[in-house]
Amino acid sequence: MSPNYSEKVMEHFKNPRNVGEIDNPDGVGKVGNPQCGDIMEMQIKVKDNVIADVKFRTFGCAAAIATSSIATEMIKGKTIEEALKLTNKAVVEALEGLPPVKIHCSVLAEDAIKAAIDDYLRKSTGTGLQGWTPRSDVEEEEHGHQH
Ligand code: FES
Repeated sequence: MSPNYSEKVMEHFKNPRNVGEIDNPDGVGKVGNPQCGDIMEMQIKVKDNVIADVKFRTFGCAAAIATSSIATEMIKGKTIEEALKLTNKAVVEALEGLPPVKIHCSVLAEDAIKAAIDDYLRKSTGTGLQGWTPRSDVEEEEHGHQH
């Protein structure tokens, strides 16, 4: 049961860029989708307001790996403001499309980047991203949220 992935998705899935961890990252974002259980973690190194390095670790489907891979390429070398403009739509376009059931995987990539920047801003300025909450979230605690 493999969805119809574009060549670009398959290429990033088989040969993902920027996988791993950064020594002393300036920001770390970890998000997850409770429905499929996939988890994505992005780490960034920031120099002079520019994303000097970014690495990811994704425990998830092929689309989650491909979206995180291409998203790291799209924000590396960009300013924080530019990186914040990266939408999951742009990620999907860069991958030459995703099957509809896999769009949420690209949301995870956008969220992971924003979560890493949020963490960076919290650490460097004391305030995180204004008006932003992740659409995907990791339940860190066993008892979960109350809704
Ligand atoms: S199936 Fe959930 S991230 Fe891909």
